[in-house]
Amino acid sequence: MAGFIDESILDDILGRIDIVEVISAYIPLKRAGRNFKACCPFHKEKTASFMVSSEKQIYHCFGCGAGGNAFNFLMQYERMEFREAVEHLARRAGIILPERHRLDRQSNGTVTQIHKINEAAAAFYQSSLRSVRAKSAHKYLENRGITPHTAKTFKLGYAPDEWDGLVRHLTGNSFDLGLAQKAGLVIAGTDRGFYDRFRNRIVFPITDVRSAVIGFGARVLDKSLPKYINSPETPVYVKGNHLYGLDLAKEAIRQEDRAVVVEGYLDCIIPYQAGMRNIVASLGTALTPQQVRLLKRFTHNVCLVYDGDTAGQAASIRSLEIFIDEGVNLTVAVLPAGFDPDSFTASRGIDAFRELIAGAATIFDYKLKFLIGKTGRIATESKAAIVSDMLSTIARFKNAVLRSEYVKKLSETLDVDESALLTELSKAKAGIRTDEVAAPGGIRTTAVHPTEKLLIKLMLEESSLIDQIRDRLDPDDFQDSRTSRIVRLMLEMTASGKPIAPGAILNHVGSDETMRLVCESTFLPDVPEAQKRVIVEDCIARLKNARQASRRLRLQSEIRKAQDKGDHELLNKLFTEFHSLIKKG
Ligand code: UTP
Ligand code: MN
Repeated sequence: MAGFIDESILDDILGRIDIVEVISAYIPLKRAGRNFKACCPFHKEKTASFMVSSEKQIYHCFGCGAGGNAFNFLMQYERMEFREAVEHLARRAGIILPERHRLDRQSNGTVTQIHKINEAAAAFYQSSLRSVRAKSAHKYLENRGITPHTAKTFKLGYAPDEWDGLVRHLTGNSFDLGLAQKAGLVIAGTDRGFYDRFRNRIVFPITDVRSAVIGFGARVLDKSLPKYINSPETPVYVKGNHLYGLDLAKEAIRQEDRAVVVEGYLDCIIPYQAGMRNIVASLGTALTPQQVRLLKRFTHNVCLVYDGDTAGQAASIRSLEIFIDEGVNLTVAVLPAGFDPDSFTASRGIDAFRELIAGAATIFDYKLKFLIGKTGRIATESKAAIVSDMLSTIARFKNAVLRSEYVKKLSETLDVDESALLTELSKAKAGIRTDEVAAPGGIRTTAVHPTEKLLIKLMLEESSLIDQIRDRLDPDDFQDSRTSRIVRLMLEMTASGKPIAPGAILNHVGSDETMRLVCESTFLPDVPEAQKRVIVEDCIARLKNARQASRRLRLQSEIRKAQDKGDHELLNKLFTEFHSLIKKG
């Protein structure tokens, strides 16, 4: 699991944060004895089987088997990668991570290579923007109100008016042009050689959430077409998986607990320059579920800003429902006709833009207004259609309070009986897929002998019990390889004088199955203090017996085989072994 970072730092981070605080930022936890519980966020359920232990810094769901420590929770819930989860919690714990390492392990993989060549290209475009030959580009940026400082922040550049400006630069720096083609930077010519994809354009590097350059957009300096050329999809750039400007905006989004989503490059850059830091761009298309989930890592409140002329298309309204499905509160702000966020901010100022966002409509209001239309008068014949369309949206909300609020509002606005709406709503709800989200692996409980599980639980709770076991049992006395792996880890950890931290053990277990076993053992019913030692003795005896028994069985079958073969020498050896085994047992 770890690998790229010193494991002691991982333990250190976990030692300084509280998993209960981490998880309760996302779901409400209720105290239940020594633990906390909630309805599991990873599968659909009505009774709470999701448990969190503050003492052990572990969570586990008995329903779907999900479980782990605080890193695992962020990886599962926020869909963070391990590295991101570590960074996130390190920041929270006030721990400075050593030297950043790249996320992908093999530093020679295609992904890393493409990142490298993209960085080189971005640097080339940036330096070419600084050259005197880029006068027209300077003028263009100046006309659009972009300061040199902002250009630097967004790594803006200029692709020179040549067929091979980048080609020559990359070749000169011993980059492979085949790789440049894979990265979408150059195009193979019909006869021979490669030529630059972006020429005589302002270049907007597209970065991922970690600020790695993954692709480019490039705009003409005049009115010619196409206005923008973008990178094709590459191994690192998948359209609809990223949001422009997110690396710059993510902290502000987290702090303000709201993201503003606009469409274009300049629509993001100009308000950002004017002081709105929680803004990102979707780059032209309707938002994808991946983009919504990406935002969800930082906030559950999103405001979409539409241009006056593109707003209110039926297709785009339908696409908003992914926000409801993802449990994100969405509002929609519509600009006056003829404006986009860039021109609106430039002409009316950032405060006017902020006001517009503050007054944005909920998805319910936005859709209802659209369906009712500009006149505001509803023909009786169209009422039923509007009702059923609105109910299909309302039905998607998972929050029952919201659903009933909206039904009430709908009944008032359309002057339709509320109970009739409720009847229709339950029909609409039945039509919506509510598949259970299967847990990874789909396993509910790990089939390990109960004695072994109980012993793991007790050892996790009390280091003194580990000492009781140390001299009496060998990790191999455990029948299950996962149990013996955990026991070995605990013996090693306590031998070096460290206290047992169950959450931290998970950083070392190495397999999901073993992790699940630790989580399950953690939440077994508690054993009375006074009985712990006796129970441990009993467990030890059982395990010894079990091992003896299995050795005896193995010997007996070997003896039978030796008898069949008439191998007297081997038989003698086996008998001696058998007798000493019985004497010891
Ligand atoms: P717009 O046509 O609204 O352009 O496209 P814009 O962002 O206002 O651009 P400016 O202000 O004229 O410079 C919105 C977004 O759609 C994508 C770009 O991401 C653009 O920012 N787009 C648009 C393209 O990819 N290609 C195009 O030819 C046009
Ligand atoms: Mn524009």
